[in-house]
Amino acid sequence: MKNIIYNKSKFIILEGLDGSGKTHACQLIKKILEKYKIPHIVIREPGGTPLAEKIRNLIKNFYTYEIINQKTILLLVYASRMQLIQNIIAPALKNNIWVISDRYELSSFAYQGGGFKIKKELIIFLKKIIVKSYLPDLTIYLDIIPKYALHRMIKRGKLDTIENNNINFFQRTRNTYLHLISKNKNSLTINANLKIDIVHQDIKNKLKKWLRTCKIYGTRG
Ligand code: TMP
Repeated sequence: MKNIIYNKSKFIILEGLDGSGKTHACQLIKKILEKYKIPHIVIREPGGTPLAEKIRNLIKNFYTYEIINQKTILLLVYASRMQLIQNIIAPALKNNIWVISDRYELSSFAYQGGGFKIKKELIIFLKKIIVKSYLPDLTIYLDIIPKYALHRMIKRGKLDTIENNNINFFQRTRNTYLHLISKNKNSLTINANLKIDIVHQDIKNKLKKWLRTCKIYGTRG
């Protein structure tokens, strides 16, 4: 019997509002790749390196009376991304290791661009100098209506700095996601409003179908 071999490492991103179930979905994808014996790592954004994790903590848990300029947050997000690309993503992909990331730059367009209304030209500028060619092969977008997302966030406990925004913020963020995903042919949309087992089955089916499109057959070694 022939083994399945993959000719190039892939970069897969999970995206969606807080409370959409991305983190569990990442674990599900990890299990599927393990089953296919595909070498991989799972990372998250912001974060994923010691410095980037410190930036994550600043972004998510910074309670102060100081007025925060959201462009400062955008720059912090890209500083974290720079560290992650340089130290983790680039070496992994170069060594044929697949990368699964819980969020990537679509989050910046959706949250900073849509939610916080930062002009997209600034985000595109940062993308050009920092992300360069490290673009995802596949983005799996978990779509959830803000009302359900907020309900799940509240159930999880204390809201962080970003989760603490109002429903209109999450509506703008979701609208931006939907707009960008509709133009992205390397993406899959999952209805994340449904029960977790239905959502996971949908991810499994769609991911396996996508995997069939990127594999080649042959004998390993
Ligand atoms: P999470 O890992 O629990 O989803 O939290 C990450 C938070 O950071 C989430 O609220 C979205 C936010 N975020 C941005 O605002 N912009 C970004 O570019 C990224 C990657 C995350």
